[in-house]
Amino acid sequence: MAAVDGIPAQIENAKLTNLTNSTNSVGKHDKQNNLNGLDDDAVGTLDSSEPEEVVAILPNGITPGQKGPEVLILPADDPATPGNTVHPSYPASNLELPDHHIDEVRSLRVAVIGAGLSGILAGILLPAKVPNIQLTILEKNTDVSGTWLENIYPGVRCDIPAHVYQSTFSPNTQWSQQFAEGHEIRDYWQAQARKYDVYKYVKFARKVKDIAWDDQNAEWTITGTDLSKEEQPFEEKADFVLTAIGRFNDWRLPNYPGVSEFQGHLRHASNWDKNFDPTGKSVAIIGNGASGIQLVPNLQRVAKHIDHYARNKTWIAASWAGDERTFEPQWYSEEQKKALLDPDEYLKFRKELEAKYWRRFASTFRGAPENEAMRQRFIEIMTERVSRKPELIKTLVPDFNPNCRRLTPGPGYLEAITADNVSFIQDRIRRFTKTGIETVTGEHREVDAIICATGAAIDFITPFSIRAHGKNLQDVWRPRPAEELAKNPDYHGWPYTYLGLAVPNFPNLLLIHGPHGAGPSGTVPHSVEVQLTYFAKLLRKVSSQGIKTVSPSKKAADDFVAYADAFFPKTVLTDNCSSWANGGSPGQRIHGIWPGSAGHVTLVRKEPRWEDWEYEYWHDSGNRFAGWFGNGWTKREREEDSDIVPYLRREGEVDLKSLHEEWWSWP
Ligand SMILES: Cc1cc2nc3c(=O)[nH]c(=O)nc-3n(C[C@H](O)[C@H](O)[C@H](O)COP(=O)(O)OP(=O)(O)OC[C@H]3O[C@@H](n4cnc5c(N)ncnc54)[C@H](O)[C@@H]3O)c2cc1C
Ligand SMILES: NC(=O)c1ccc[n+]([C@@H]2O[C@H](COP(=O)([O-])OP(=O)(O)OC[C@H]3O[C@@H](n4cnc5c(N)ncnc54)[C@H](OP(=O)(O)O)[C@@H]3O)[C@@H](O)[C@H]2O)c1
Repeated sequence: MAAVDGIPAQIENAKLTNLTNSTNSVGKHDKQNNLNGLDDDAVGTLDSSEPEEVVAILPNGITPGQKGPEVLILPADDPATPGNTVHPSYPASNLELPDHHIDEVRSLRVAVIGAGLSGILAGILLPAKVPNIQLTILEKNTDVSGTWLENIYPGVRCDIPAHVYQSTFSPNTQWSQQFAEGHEIRDYWQAQARKYDVYKYVKFARKVKDIAWDDQNAEWTITGTDLSKEEQPFEEKADFVLTAIGRFNDWRLPNYPGVSEFQGHLRHASNWDKNFDPTGKSVAIIGNGASGIQLVPNLQRVAKHIDHYARNKTWIAASWAGDERTFEPQWYSEEQKKALLDPDEYLKFRKELEAKYWRRFASTFRGAPENEAMRQRFIEIMTERVSRKPELIKTLVPDFNPNCRRLTPGPGYLEAITADNVSFIQDRIRRFTKTGIETVTGEHREVDAIICATGAAIDFITPFSIRAHGKNLQDVWRPRPAEELAKNPDYHGWPYTYLGLAVPNFPNLLLIHGPHGAGPSGTVPHSVEVQLTYFAKLLRKVSSQGIKTVSPSKKAADDFVAYADAFFPKTVLTDNCSSWANGGSPGQRIHGIWPGSAGHVTLVRKEPRWEDWEYEYWHDSGNRFAGWFGNGWTKREREEDSDIVPYLRREGEVDLKSLHEEWWSWP
């Protein structure tokens, strides 16, 4: 027979004696807690003033002997209460119920890795949505803002309007220009971190190198280097790890022979040296992704000469959603900014602008008229913009459809590559030399500086090991030859996930804005907010329902992959192009984007499908309810001052759609 505090869990026909000696300490009784509507005088508490010999009638399912539940105590010889003991034939239970109120939730230690806009939004939303959370954000830099802190190359700016690239709940109405420069975006996100007190959660200069799961204690051990302390190691423990490390943070120099021999100035675009002045210099810019396309027109205006190496073709779009782009800043006038101070005016303006970014999904589909129209429009625009060197157009127009790669508006780019001081080079690079770059044609060109706008590791392999159940997620996801993958079913060779949120067999690990993070339409901040809201629901469930571990089932992940495999071929994403959606490998499974629209992914992530997740419980019995239901009480109903009827509101204030659905409100 199970026992709690030395008292039998199952009362069989027993009279409880000497209850005063137990550790029970229960709240003052009051009419509100009166059980079964019996006379108040019949309700008592387990304290020393009670008679020695009493019989207890307990609310259903409550183990006597535990502190907490208020019990109804009647004189043992009360003739009016026959049968006030558990019936002898009542089913016996061996279940030992933990003594806690159902609304006393476990305090989860949650570690977020990364403090870009995803980590900042985590620092804002998770404490608001997950009661009792102990949040730590580990960031390798010395401030928050990620992309916008690190990227300071000339011309860095967002290429969707700044009014769209911000949180949904705390907008800046006063952006200085339509497509804000990097520093203004950095300032915005740092201001959000200050406004919502996110800095208090962040441990800076912590570069994570490994996270390892311990099944015994059901916790992650996070280790890495504390860059502020002469590279001392650090260690953190957490019940959950959420990665928010960005997609383009792990920038890479190309690995051509001779890279280390070049004696001029060599930098990656994302590692721009603010002391480097390109004025009057010969500069090579490698890469025609979004960074290269921004850099070329900016450096072309000041450099003596630019060698622009663009080994593949790319579409130059006019804009993302019809907003006209110019190379020069598109400032908001003081008058416009003043008008936007009016909350109604601003909301109207913002809704109209943002809606355009949700409606561009149709052009993603193969053969869609919208895609064909886009192609025609881009060819016209590109032809017009290279009119100074019309022969260039045939070397520029890609043989894949627009939207296969992320679109790049590139204001000023085509004009720049037709300028006299720019050489547009599509030959492949063979090697770097001490003084410049040699292509496979044997041509060698000397330069003072080489800027590699060659992008980042886009295979989603984390820059730290993630080890659980004898596997390292880096190994599981790393691209490998087909024969190797066929030999080991544990290897997937690409970022295999459940809805881009988590990975089977890697418990208590959640991915923010990782693989399949966002739809091809919509906005990044909105998508991150929705994903965090999903995770908040999951964390609330875990902390309140006695759950030890949670991970998605393999069957659910397989079904998701099968859906994506059927969906993506309908889109131009599976054309023959290299993009971060396919990890830079044409023909590889699309994993950088959600298989559906932004509205679609929002709906999918609105309510978790709990049946797709697998759970382990803290309660020794493995019983799913024991650790959750606790002693049968809510704490709130035992607090005299709490609003025990929060569902009662003034007539007319009740929204029937949300009635009884607010997770934070209960009796
Ligand atoms: C130059 C540039 C311009 C862009 N422009 C746009 C745009 O106009 N519109 C748009 O929608 N998107 C744009 N993007 C994409 C942009 O990255 C995302 O929109 C967004 O910033 C992602 O935020 P994040 O927090 O997920 O990642 P990030 O901003 O990359 O932040 C990741 C954070 O994780 C930290 N981190 C990484 N590894 C570790 C580790 N091992 N240990 C500790 N900390 C770590 C990093 O230091 C960083 O602070 C742009 C990207 C770049 C590079
Ligand atoms: N707001 C903006 O305007 C803006 C600015 C910058 C970045 N971004 C975001 O960040 C993402 C990354 O942009 P990014 O420009 O840094 O990277 P990217 O889009 O991945 O482009 C990298 C470029 O470098 C080339 N490249 C890579 N390795 C090379 C090598 N060894 N030799 C020659 N060329 C090489 C690639 O060519 P191949 O295509 O042939 O591989 C590609 O042209 C973008 O897609 C966008 O989401 C946005």
